[in-house]
Amino acid sequence: MVEKMRIGVVGCGNIGKVHAKAIKNLKDAELAAVSDQWRTNSESVAHEFGCAWYTDHREMMAKENLDILTVCTPSGTRLDICRAAADARVNLLIEKPLDITMKHTSQIIELAQEAGIKLGTVFQLRFMPLYSGLKKAATDGRFGRLIMGNAATICFRSKDYYLSGGWRGTRALDGGGALMNQGIHTVDLLLWIMGDVKSVFAYAGNLTHDIEVEDTVTAAVEFKNGAVGTIQATTSVYHGINKKLEIYGTDGSAIILDEDPLLWQFREDREDDSSFLHGHAPVSAISPIVEDTWAHEQAILDMMGAIAEDRQPFVSGMEGEKATELVLAIYKSAETGKRVDLPLARE
Ligand SMILES: NC(=O)c1ccc[n+]([C@@H]2O[C@H](COP(=O)([O-])OP(=O)(O)OC[C@H]3O[C@@H](n4cnc5c(N)ncnc54)[C@H](O)[C@@H]3O)[C@@H](O)[C@H]2O)c1
Repeated sequence: MVEKMRIGVVGCGNIGKVHAKAIKNLKDAELAAVSDQWRTNSESVAHEFGCAWYTDHREMMAKENLDILTVCTPSGTRLDICRAAADARVNLLIEKPLDITMKHTSQIIELAQEAGIKLGTVFQLRFMPLYSGLKKAATDGRFGRLIMGNAATICFRSKDYYLSGGWRGTRALDGGGALMNQGIHTVDLLLWIMGDVKSVFAYAGNLTHDIEVEDTVTAAVEFKNGAVGTIQATTSVYHGINKKLEIYGTDGSAIILDEDPLLWQFREDREDDSSFLHGHAPVSAISPIVEDTWAHEQAILDMMGAIAEDRQPFVSGMEGEKATELVLAIYKSAETGKRVDLPLARE
């Protein structure tokens, strides 16, 4: 019998519970333990899902012989946790964003490399058939020459949402607002499909919320392959859309609105398109709750496969870093009023 991989979760809030549930749903995984800085949080998740609980992730890793630690703490808290996992030689699957600064993302990547552990970022949308179908259409050349790519997250978050965790909407722990937190999923999809970005020019502001960071941002993007595009994010409109992705090329056009393909038009049709062009339950544009754990299960399964097959996870640490870098470049442009070229300095 193949032994189950032992997985621990650190951070037992909103997404930590999704991870615990996703791990429980996987037959080759065992939810060994959870940890949170607050005993009430780790104890209640442990009781709900049946595992050990801790208030210190170092102690959890010392005692639980984990194969994987999934990191579900606020975005600005990753580095110390990753250092502890690297010391304990435990593979890391980190929620998006990988971190909120270039200095920390590169330190996390270095720590993992030096410790010889796998490092993955959770961008679960990449596993959804609609988005992997879109990516395949691009890699198969069905768009012809890519001309334009637009990504938007035009959603709503209430005052109560920002008050629901002391870290939300703070520079130190959220690292940004509508783009670093909500919009980064479509930033990752856009980068994945369109390729690396050469430069950005952006405007950002705080239009409706009493938070330190932006609640609205718009950016013009120039890709390395010569294509152009836009990135937009806001948490200020009711009720908006969760995400919209538009990819245009000389031979095809696709628009995905939430989980629906609004437009899927190529010079050449393919019969197998129908296998993924069916609608999925849309993700809410007004709620931060992830109801369906399927895509998270795929991200965890992929990390297990990366360990078993000794390969990179599908969304590696370096891939995760790219999305953070683009978000930070957009912030820098909005702040300075200047065009910003990538790559950014790692310090
Ligand atoms: N992939 C997705 O769709 C998705 C969805 C929601 C959140 N997230 C990401 O997950 C992370 C957490 O978001 P959330 O909404 O679950 O937040 P949350 O506030 O609901 O939960 C965070 C938990 O971490 C604990 N915590 C904070 N600092 C800690 C530390 N240093 N050590 C141990 N525990 C600590 C808190 O007590 C809390 O229980 C964020 O980075 C967010 O961007 C991803």
